[in-house]
Amino acid sequence: MIFAIDIARMFNNGRQERDSDMADYLDRIGSGLVLTRPEVFGFDYIPDEIVGREDEKRELASMFIGLAHREGTARAVVTGPVGSGKTALVKTFCRDIIRHLVGKRDVMSVHINCRNANTATRVVQRIIQHMDKGHPHRGLAADELLSSIRRLIQSSNRHMILVLDEVDHLLRHSGDDLLYKLLRLDEDQDSIGTLSLIMISQEQVLDLLESAVISRMGHSSHLRLSSYSESGLLKIAQQRCELGLTNGSCSEEILGLVSQSAAATGDARRVMELLEGAAKRAESSGRGEILPKDVQKTVLTLPTNVDSDNIIELPSDCMLILMGISRRLRRSESLTSGEAENLYHVVCEEYDQKPKGHTTVWKHIKHMADLDIIATKYDNVSGGRGRTLHISMPHMLPSDVQRRVETFIKKRLRR
Ligand SMILES: Nc1ncnc2c1ncn2[C@@H]1O[C@H](COP(=O)(O)OP(=O)(O)O)[C@@H](O)[C@H]1O
Ligand SMILES: [Mg+2]
Repeated sequence: MIFAIDIARMFNNGRQERDSDMADYLDRIGSGLVLTRPEVFGFDYIPDEIVGREDEKRELASMFIGLAHREGTARAVVTGPVGSGKTALVKTFCRDIIRHLVGKRDVMSVHINCRNANTATRVVQRIIQHMDKGHPHRGLAADELLSSIRRLIQSSNRHMILVLDEVDHLLRHSGDDLLYKLLRLDEDQDSIGTLSLIMISQEQVLDLLESAVISRMGHSSHLRLSSYSESGLLKIAQQRCELGLTNGSCSEEILGLVSQSAAATGDARRVMELLEGAAKRAESSGRGEILPKDVQKTVLTLPTNVDSDNIIELPSDCMLILMGISRRLRRSESLTSGEAENLYHVVCEEYDQKPKGHTTVWKHIKHMADLDIIATKYDNVSGGRGRTLHISMPHMLPSDVQRRVETFIKKRLRR
């Protein structure tokens, strides 16, 4: 009997101890010592006001001057590197112009990310869903849905600003036929002023469009965002800090460190990653203040960012080799130079190109390694003969590289 009680006591004690252990080690999660609103550091979060970019806002607004008129429409292309604030700028612009025109014109905006909607049908389905949730769209072809969209907009007496974000995904997948149709939605119909269009892309998509689409877009309606300078990033860091961190947890020195580190890429997302990462590190050490080492340690965990603009400058053969390499590296960690050459031959066949010889392939691989697009390493087989060169991609995402190459190769081959 005593024995049984002892067992029970031991068991209970054991459990109690474990409970308090558990509470202890989880204590710091959500303690709010530093991070008050984690959602503020999400990439999709858009603050009420974006900081800086005054000239760019004005430039975009000037493209939309016609919108105040009953029948006016506008078109714009916004390009810039990742994290240059394209999405944030366009979203806040749409919100502002809708407010500005209240009483003058009833404007709505629909923002579609073509990364997930990369066919004409999917894009028009999303537009319809946005306007009329109950609309029967299944089984209808894109053209029929387009007519429905026009009717829906007109019967509601509104004007639509359609934003196609990351439009290069749509273009690569389905060409520019939908853009052509959207741009001439009113032509051949008894309608005017139905739709304005903003296209957003990392790439210079204007180059990829057919002339019929370009002439309707107009070359002048191109807004280029450059990557952020250190001072631009500092302002963004200051704003996020006020929005999402506790008072006094993040000094000017820390903000300076964050923006200095992010300036290497000019990517505003880096600011979010660094601030959030450093805040979490401080919290998990039980501190209410971010120290430089929290930022520095976070920097080390982020992938180094290589200037991926290098890719679109590559000669066409080099791009074809890179396409084979990046396709394979989506699935495996590395490949040999021999495999890369075989894959290059497959890609050449696909694009109807005559493959270059072994020495040229070798030279291009070396060139891409110099640019840090790929990394190369010999294995250490003793005996020296027939050492194998292994290729990997530590600085970039193979899927991103593949996407960029596929976007630009056609144009490159036309030259
Ligand atoms: N000028 C700015 N002011 C405040 N936040 C910004 C600004 N520019 C970018 N951001 C923020 O940085 C992140 C990345 O911006 P985003 O618009 O997604 O870039 P892009 O679409 O060019 O890749 C988002 O969280 C965004 O809210
Ligand atoms: Mg974006």
